[in-house]
Amino acid sequence: MDKYIIKGGGRLEGVIPVQTAKNSVLPILAATVLTDEEVRVLNVPDITDVRNMVRILTCLGCRAVWEGRDIIIDSSSAEKCEIPRALAHELRSSVFLLGSVVSRFRKAKIAYPGGCDIGLRPVDLHLNGLKRLGVQITESNGYINCACQKLVGNEIMLDCPSVGATENIMLAAVKAEGETVIKNAAREPEIEDLQKFLNSLGARVKGAGTGTIVIEGVKTLSGGVYQPISDRIEAGTFLIAAAMCGGDIELTGTNAENLSSLLHKLRENGCKLRIKNDKIYLRSDRRPVSVKSVETQPYPGFPTDLQAQMTALCCVCAGNSIVTENLFETRFKYVPELRRMGADITVIDRSAFVRGVERLRGAVTVAHDLRGGAALVIAALAAEGDSEVLDICHIDRGYAGFEYKLSSLGAKIKRVSI
Ligand code: UD1
Repeated sequence: MDKYIIKGGGRLEGVIPVQTAKNSVLPILAATVLTDEEVRVLNVPDITDVRNMVRILTCLGCRAVWEGRDIIIDSSSAEKCEIPRALAHELRSSVFLLGSVVSRFRKAKIAYPGGCDIGLRPVDLHLNGLKRLGVQITESNGYINCACQKLVGNEIMLDCPSVGATENIMLAAVKAEGETVIKNAAREPEIEDLQKFLNSLGARVKGAGTGTIVIEGVKTLSGGVYQPISDRIEAGTFLIAAAMCGGDIELTGTNAENLSSLLHKLRENGCKLRIKNDKIYLRSDRRPVSVKSVETQPYPGFPTDLQAQMTALCCVCAGNSIVTENLFETRFKYVPELRRMGADITVIDRSAFVRGVERLRGAVTVAHDLRGGAALVIAALAAEGDSEVLDICHIDRGYAGFEYKLSSLGAKIKRVSI
């Protein structure tokens, strides 16, 4: 089990190239099961979620290998349609494979997925969507069993705009007979990216990025080479870190459009921001001022995946803030850890009431999930004195070379194996 040792209190200065989006890469890798031809995904971040997805693909019989920073997948040899419990528990995105595996084999068996422990994460919308396409679903011993004669397009209305359910249904519908319409679809940029990827292989999908996605089934998909979009959550994490520590940073290879809800808040905090093509510059010279209220919402609202980092920033702002989590039930597990650092936070129901303090102080804290863990690291960088963040395996799920990138900005952070 690794931990970070961090000496806080310094400014962050320098240039960071933003990684390719984890939440684009995972469904794209799941989609490669739909074709018999070779797919090359470019610049894939070396994170545990991706490594686990590659293990699952290999377990299904696909050939998936890294070549430098790219992953090449050849699914022509895929022969299994079962994802074992141990692997599915490592990675929630294993559920995305239901759509593509059932499309390919007319059956699939998968253990209930794992992933971050951030509250109940049901898969009812995924399963209802698949049922509407003709899949029969039974559940036994913690496994979901799917079977169908064929997949037939249909209209599917999602009760809420779930990212994963939208993507899973897209994957099942791409080679279904006839037309599928997904209403109240999630509008996240990663869904538009999945559409672009699928269409580059010959699929006929339109409407992603809006609430209605229309998929015209095709018989086969080809191979291809694809560069997914950049990771808006990684980019946001570095911007918040610089706002909190004080600094002057430049992010390259990013898309400010996808981050506008955060950029608005950072301007309210008093940060100076400049956007030029694929670059975002942030300068923060004074103690940030509070933003009063932040509420997580589906895209284009404020992302739940930046909620913990934003709360960490609120801890050192001048004034009080209220951060409300509307998507997941238990996404405040990092709060007691921040309190150890001197943060003044009270959680009532879905809201964290934060009274800004002048400085946080170093402490030993434990990461409980991916984004909460990242929030503890940036809080430690801004704090006075030394900190440790334990259980950083959670952070390794989503940030490639986190400590190297932070060190390149001047942060004093090192990984230690214990
Ligand atoms: C994806 C992201 C995750 C992000 C989340 C919300 C990936 C790999 N993960 O997760 O980083 O935090 O979107 O932006 O892309 N729900 C149901 N039934 C379902 C499915 C979801 O009730 O069948 C609910 C969930 O409990 C939650 C809400 O819908 O309250 C949103 O979840 P969803 O959009 O599905 O998140 P994920 O796809 O799991």
